[in-house]
Amino acid sequence: MKEKLERLEQEALKALEAADNPQEVQLLRVRYVGRKGAVTQCLRSISTLPPAERPLAGKLANEVKTRLEAAFKDSIEAFDTGRKRPDGALDVTLPGRPLAGGRLHPITQITQAICEIFLRLGFEIVEGPDVELDYYNFEALNIPKDHPARDMQDTFYVSENIVLRTHTSPIQVRVMERQSPPVRIIAPGKAYRVDSDVSHTPMFHQVEGLMVAENISMGDLKGVLTIFVHQMFDEETSLRFRPSFFPFTEPSAEVDIRCVICRGKGCRVCSHTGWLEVLGAGMVHPAVFEMVGYDTGRYTGFAFGMGIERIAMLKYGIDDIRKFYENNIRFLEQF
Ligand code: DAH
Repeated sequence: MKEKLERLEQEALKALEAADNPQEVQLLRVRYVGRKGAVTQCLRSISTLPPAERPLAGKLANEVKTRLEAAFKDSIEAFDTGRKRPDGALDVTLPGRPLAGGRLHPITQITQAICEIFLRLGFEIVEGPDVELDYYNFEALNIPKDHPARDMQDTFYVSENIVLRTHTSPIQVRVMERQSPPVRIIAPGKAYRVDSDVSHTPMFHQVEGLMVAENISMGDLKGVLTIFVHQMFDEETSLRFRPSFFPFTEPSAEVDIRCVICRGKGCRVCSHTGWLEVLGAGMVHPAVFEMVGYDTGRYTGFAFGMGIERIAMLKYGIDDIRKFYENNIRFLEQF
């Protein structure tokens, strides 16, 4: 009898410890010290013991019952007063769980950084449609019908006269059509080409720039782009203008910056040349001005276009453009 009572008491206390809500404690109370509870039944069976054993067994059983009743009562009180809490209940005294904050995509961040620099220089930000007329994407930019950029391989055609814009340059034309000089705009946005490898994605981003007024020269272009590069990278990053060709500018240039990875010593990123091509630019071709009705005798202007992914890759040292669009949270969280 003594052993049985001791075992029951231990068992009950252990179960009580594990109970994590008051309902469970009630059930335990009934199971052990209720009318048909295990301890209660022990008490009842004392009358079946030999008379000599009864007083001691009775005392012990009563003690166990009293202790357990007290323990159950205490536990229910603990839940009632909040000293113990049901599983999953809100503990308002605990520190809050931090929310995993989102952030801007690295391309958005770089786009904003580029825009801020040009805004400080007095440029206005404009946008244009991604789905564009052939006229604005090609024709008005002096890109003739047989130009390779129109090739079915490069351009996403929506219909014969509608394309997904292959660059942000059509925005230049749209702005000049509705506004007379002076013009000072940049136009960030998406561009599309049938192309996909480590440095090309079918959708990518460009920023177009255009400044038109009287007496705008190549010197203004160099000045503005130099300020841009110095602010985007740093003051030590020098620029190089290489003669080039674009149908909508004359003269045209490709602009390189000193390799931001090796500082010009030559590395894998700059193909051991020490220079990185970052944008195309030039003086707006008179044929483009004629398309929008600008007086070519009075106005001159410069334009430029740069790939935002390219700038982001150089800024962050990323070697595969496709990483921007894989939605890998561990990649994106780094920016
Ligand atoms: N539109 C050209 C491209 O997609 C980039 C460009 C070059 C834009 C020269 C310009 C420019 O405005 O003057 O590659």
